[in-house]
Amino acid sequence: MTAVSPPDGDVTVGVVGLGYWGPNLARNIEQVQGAQLAWCCDARDDVRARLASKHTRTRFTADLADLLADDELDAIVLATPVPTHAELAVRVLEAGKHCFVEKPLAQSVADAERAVGAARATGRLLMVGHLLEYHPGVRKLKEIADSGELGDIHYIYSNRLNLGQLRADENALWSLGAHDISVILHLADEDPSELHAHGESYMRAGVEDVVFAFLRFPSGLAAHLHLSWLDPHKERRFTVVGSQRMATFDDMDLERKVTVYDKGFDQSASSYGEYITRAGDIYSPRISNAEPLRLEVEHFVQCVRSGDTPRSDGDSGLRVVRVLEHLQTELDRSRRQG
Ligand SMILES: NC(=O)c1ccc[n+]([C@@H]2O[C@H](COP(=O)([O-])OP(=O)(O)OC[C@H]3O[C@@H](n4cnc5c(N)ncnc54)[C@H](O)[C@@H]3O)[C@@H](O)[C@H]2O)c1
Repeated sequence: MTAVSPPDGDVTVGVVGLGYWGPNLARNIEQVQGAQLAWCCDARDDVRARLASKHTRTRFTADLADLLADDELDAIVLATPVPTHAELAVRVLEAGKHCFVEKPLAQSVADAERAVGAARATGRLLMVGHLLEYHPGVRKLKEIADSGELGDIHYIYSNRLNLGQLRADENALWSLGAHDISVILHLADEDPSELHAHGESYMRAGVEDVVFAFLRFPSGLAAHLHLSWLDPHKERRFTVVGSQRMATFDDMDLERKVTVYDKGFDQSASSYGEYITRAGDIYSPRISNAEPLRLEVEHFVQCVRSGDTPRSDGDSGLRVVRVLEHLQTELDRSRRQG
């Protein structure tokens, strides 16, 4: 099928799934210039009723088929539970609509590949809601890492911890780790060659509340993730350790989201082979406080209009699912016996 021609006028968008996250997407679509929130869809009456008074110019329905049948509709945003993502995305794409699907793209590599295949076959755009890739702090961290200022990146670790929402259909790896994996792959620009994970399920049998994962990359880079919704601290932090400098992105810090540390080891000039610690300047660049979700939605609308490939396209969503599925195999393999 040939690529769809860019829409004239406003890009018309429908949101499916109005539970916890969907209303945030709907609000942003309504506020983005050049976009029109044409439809809101949720299977539940109470959920639709709650949102209807906020979006008075939008049509509401319980059935996705109404959106698929609307020839005037350009794109559909899916904010439904993860097990539904792939099937719904394929339906949306095969109906000739562009599709934004919340993270992660699917619950398995096979499902994610079906969605990517459908986008390719129909020539429609598929974007995955890897929100942190649109965060100005992560963009700055990537810019700093790519500039060479940190030297060679030795390792990255991330902490995503809180006393959070217990989920029955996803464990901490899939629910929290999808964010961290997308950022780590974005920073690394390569895929891991070795993956390990251990976890424990304390609150619900078989659903890990805490996960520790370790990745090795062909370049020598390593990464560690600590993911938990059973923790006294609320942390959302990445630390990047380079051969020259180190940097952090701390989403809980209102003023210093990104900090660069001129810390490391220098070779001693006086005695060959000895190292002395260097603890130099510490600085925090200014980071825009634009809402990452707004930037993400603007990017989607702009890509629909221009036909450009989104930063977090289907292929990058598939890479994340590949890592998640591999780590899940490791969790299953290393599960506590008895
Ligand atoms: N980017 C982020 O930071 C972020 C944060 C939270 C959730 N999410 C993602 O958003 C998605 C939704 O999560 P949530 O917590 O809002 O879930 P939720 O369970 O609160 O809401 C999902 C809604 O989808 C509706 N639904 C399910 N299948 C449907 C169908 N076929 N047709 C119409 N409606 C249907 C349900 O009735 C429900 O209201 C998940 O993929 C999740 O990973 C992303």
